Amino acid sequence: MKNKVLLFVSCLFIMTHLSAQLHLSFPEARFKTGDNISWKERTFDDNDWKQVKTSIPWERQGYMNYDGYAWYRIHFFLPKTMLDKSYLKEKLNFYVAKIDDADEVYLNGKLIGKTGTFPSDPEGFVSRWEIPRNYIVNLDDPAVLWDEENVLAIRVYDGESSGGIYADIPTLQIYDLIDGLDIDYTALNDYNESEYHIYLRNKLPQTQSGKLQITVEDTQEGKMLQTITEKIEIAPLKVLDKKIAFPGNTRIKINVTYIDDKTSKFKNKEIISYYILTPPVSDFPKINGPKVYGARPGHPFLFTIAASGIYPMTFEAQGLPKGLKLDRKTGIITGKPEKEGDYKVILTAKNEKGAARGELLIRIGDKIALTPPMGWNSWNCWGLKVDQEKMLQSAHIFKEKGLMHYGWSYINLDGGWQDTRDSKGNMLPNKKFPDMKALGDSIHALGLKFGIYTSPGPRDCAGYLGSYQHEKQDVEIFAKWGVDYLKYDWCYYSEVFDREKDTSTSAYMKPYLLMQKHLRELDRDIVYSLCQYGFDDVWRWGAAIGNSWRTTWDITDTWESMSDIGFNQYPYYSYAGPGHWNDPDMLIVGKVGWGEELRNSRLTPDEQYTHITLWSLLASPLLIGCDLSQLEPFTLSLLTNTEVLDVNQDPLGKQAQRLIKDKNIQIWVKELEDGSKAVGIFNLGNVDEVYDLLFSSLGYPVVNEVRDVWRQTDIPNITSSMRLNLPSHGVSFLRIR
Ligand code: GAL
Repeated sequence: MKNKVLLFVSCLFIMTHLSAQLHLSFPEARFKTGDNISWKERTFDDNDWKQVKTSIPWERQGYMNYDGYAWYRIHFFLPKTMLDKSYLKEKLNFYVAKIDDADEVYLNGKLIGKTGTFPSDPEGFVSRWEIPRNYIVNLDDPAVLWDEENVLAIRVYDGESSGGIYADIPTLQIYDLIDGLDIDYTALNDYNESEYHIYLRNKLPQTQSGKLQITVEDTQEGKMLQTITEKIEIAPLKVLDKKIAFPGNTRIKINVTYIDDKTSKFKNKEIISYYILTPPVSDFPKINGPKVYGARPGHPFLFTIAASGIYPMTFEAQGLPKGLKLDRKTGIITGKPEKEGDYKVILTAKNEKGAARGELLIRIGDKIALTPPMGWNSWNCWGLKVDQEKMLQSAHIFKEKGLMHYGWSYINLDGGWQDTRDSKGNMLPNKKFPDMKALGDSIHALGLKFGIYTSPGPRDCAGYLGSYQHEKQDVEIFAKWGVDYLKYDWCYYSEVFDREKDTSTSAYMKPYLLMQKHLRELDRDIVYSLCQYGFDDVWRWGAAIGNSWRTTWDITDTWESMSDIGFNQYPYYSYAGPGHWNDPDMLIVGKVGWGEELRNSRLTPDEQYTHITLWSLLASPLLIGCDLSQLEPFTLSLLTNTEVLDVNQDPLGKQAQRLIKDKNIQIWVKELEDGSKAVGIFNLGNVDEVYDLLFSSLGYPVVNEVRDVWRQTDIPNITSSMRLNLPSHGVSFLRIR
């Protein structure tokens, strides 16, 4: 419940932030590692402390590998005029973004809030890394100093992996009448029509009255569709629901402004409609998915032909390696390939509308994951609340909603399943997973693959059991359960690492090499995903050990997080290739929540296009992180655009390079197997831009073909340049030749 309240207050905060009134923001702070309770005092001299950013983990700011205590100190002047401007004159809210892992916050020496617990607390260390912090102080509290310098001191304990304040910029806000009003919305839309409900929620025990203005603009046509201006009154604790409906499927900007009568303060929210660019699926059969697939000889093989169109469908596969057979009704290919070699397989998919052909190169040899793995992982939606039922449900939805018709194939269980070991040392799942073998079997029966998670440490990041000193035994059990993918997450391996006092590259490689050895002893292909957040420049050596390696800390569903991670992948492009990929973390589209209340991704639709485009260009593993049971048309369209996925799955396996960085514009280019190039032109700025793309700047004096990848259409009459309308945080995705 507490979490819900915090989330609620935090949303409110992000929105009031927009009204830019009665608030201060704190993008930087003074910082020091260690712990000393006198650092909470206002008068403490912190002049020699380092200056750091407050929206990104300290590892990114020169404190690589640092776990333990650290303090931030923020100095700010609080003008009395802010108090005078407030109508309610009640409360001050300190929003401290998210903190990895636990914190105590002091205002001028007085404790004003705490989230999680420290190792020295009676209950021991509890991490609450995922919760936005909001600490409220009454305005008449003597700790609040008007017209003077104040100090906010934040004591942080980081248990493992990334540490410190992250995900957003901390702010201070005087809570006023206008903050008692929330603007919120829900959307229902598909290709034909859109219906938005704008909710104005009065959270105060008094009536709110003011002026409401709503504009609805078609941004593609530059046309105003609707303007509403009216006086409104919302009774205490009531909600006003305004319905906005429009036909079709274009990019619409809904601007909502509420001005409160008593203070003339306003709140504003801009909503971009969930416009769908992916064309509707055709009824005709079409073969999708990777064009090349690697497997090892003598190991169980599982590959499902991905084909869209109406079902039922029947399949054929000519030229399969010996030992493999196709189920013609389901398109599932199983068996054990006997001999190494390249097998050019001709696939056919037939339905009542016709037949489609495709080619698949099956490469039986030593390498697997020849294209980036595509699947779903439980973490970004269910967090530790995952269970067997939810896993199975996700697998069924892969089939029912047709995700597997586009090559989505892994169903991966993240942390939260591990319990203890039995007397023989076997790792046991907890009550929520009554039968892992049955789960693996059911996933396989659908033609999908099963992924699991553990840590090389004694415990994983959430404190659940890890595989330390039981590596061989654990993977043997995983193989019995039918596991096809292993995410191996460093977490509390830090304890072992610190004890050994060796920070050489080989010390970082050690736990991952050990697991690699045991994995390779199995008669099973298991995709090996290294997760250690980029320690020791893992991209330099990851390819020798695994199929992918996380390059970053955890992603979250904000523009700051996604863009910071995604656009900082440029130094690693040369390390990616077939069988070994940089992993900038999982997708944050759809309904996410990390085990807390599920919410729509806080990325705007334009930001979501940027996210999927960038991850495709980066040849990243694509792991959907949302609750699949609530998949709506927009998110589904983002995940089932065959031309976008083709860029990600291109057999050449190149990661895009960032070729141009021109103020807010970045251009990333990925070479593709057929000689064409995929080009993402991104606008990272806060305002829409018109950009003239000169193809010569990409090394092409003239171009023969320009294709709009999202819309899957050719753009005619383009030779040397092109004018692009790039929305703020949005993208234009082209394929050129
Ligand atoms: C983190 C990891 C997340 C998730 C989590 C589980 O370290 O980066 O992706 O696996 O642990 O506790």
